[in-house]
Amino acid sequence: GPLTSYDPGFVNTAACRSSITYIDGDAGILEHRGYPIEELAEKSSFLEVAYLLSNGELPTEAQLTEWEYQVNRHRLVHENVYDIIQSFRYDAHPMAKLMAGVVSQMTFYPSSRRLSEPESRELNAFRLLGKMPTMAAATFRHSIGRHAVYPSDELGYVENFLAMLFQSQQRVWRADPRLVRALEVLFILHADHEQNCSTTAVRTVASSGNDVYTAAAAGIGALFGPLHGGANEAVLKMLREIGSLDRVPEFIEGVKNGRGRLMGFGHRVYKNYDPRAKVIKKAVDDVFEVRGMNPLLDIAVELEKIALNDEYFVKRKLYPNVDFYSGLIYEALNFPTEMFTVLFAVPRTAGWIAHWTEQLTDPDQRIIRPKQLYTGYERREYVPMADR
Ligand code: CMC
Repeated sequence: GPLTSYDPGFVNTAACRSSITYIDGDAGILEHRGYPIEELAEKSSFLEVAYLLSNGELPTEAQLTEWEYQVNRHRLVHENVYDIIQSFRYDAHPMAKLMAGVVSQMTFYPSSRRLSEPESRELNAFRLLGKMPTMAAATFRHSIGRHAVYPSDELGYVENFLAMLFQSQQRVWRADPRLVRALEVLFILHADHEQNCSTTAVRTVASSGNDVYTAAAAGIGALFGPLHGGANEAVLKMLREIGSLDRVPEFIEGVKNGRGRLMGFGHRVYKNYDPRAKVIKKAVDDVFEVRGMNPLLDIAVELEKIALNDEYFVKRKLYPNVDFYSGLIYEALNFPTEMFTVLFAVPRTAGWIAHWTEQLTDPDQRIIRPKQLYTGYERREYVPMADR
């Protein structure tokens, strides 16, 4: 039929119904299943939020124990997965290694392709959530030339992740509980954000009939871009490039004159302070209390101060987003810059799983296949090679 709307970037098109996450960008509100993000970040664990996203309700104590058991018992990966990751060059970006590890799971668990069976969907969702930190940590260990660390049954989801990353050969790595909680809060803040670019990629790949691993691998690809999850990495690079407080005004002028964007600023939906950025600022204080100050934080604070009072940013409603401060926390936790986007992918898996399931179980849904506005030639004569 005739084209009814042209909407690049789907700025004003709803492609699905969803009951998972609510955002009011003008008011700076983010809620999962009706619960405000501020409260979840303060009171919940990451796996509790993952349960909420997938099941629609906060778990009882017994439900949460069972859920944690079901996720955590799937933390081990097939030994071949380590070989897959180790077959990359030592300096390969961890997001590429993670994507390969995740998509390979589909071949280790062929039953994941049985999308019409709820038990199979659920089992493979548990497997993905359980194995994600294991694979993410393995990408890091490979890049620093260390053997991978097996998951430990004694540690919780986030603490185990930290141990798999940083455990030395001599001793089990136990993080300061304040640092573990800071990372847990970041995980909660990144768990879901309705129809963002990577979740849309997940839904699109799900819509042609794909398992959760293939869909999540597509999500990882979308997340890698600097306009999406790659922004946290880009923010740190930017802060380093600025280098000192006195160069902040000059940098801001450069952004206004079209020389690159202020990374970590602006959002498609939030035209007011990103509520997640507010929570993160509190976590920044906790982490720096344990780890000591980082001069890059002063540069970030100054950038924010100037931008929030500058007409260019005010007029365009550009505020700091979740990624403006998250990179500084990751750096304080000893993560190399390359790992930052991986640290976004691990918790966002909880959201991808909930949306993958919703996409597959919504009777309204069909294969996602947008229209185009054709701007090419009309039909013309084929030109033989000799006449071109
Ligand atoms: N610095 C400078 N100018 C900006 C920025 C920025 N960070 N973001 C937007 N603008 C300007 C843009 O140039 C445009 O100006 P004009 O109207 O004069 O052409 C106007 O603001 C609107 O921008 P847009 O690109 O049309 O907005 P969008 O909704 O398509 O893009 C965005 C949203 C997040 C991609 C964009 O703000 C951006 O590139 N920000 C920097 C990257 C970043 O921090 N991304 C993380 C997003 S939050 C975490 C996540 O979801 O991954």
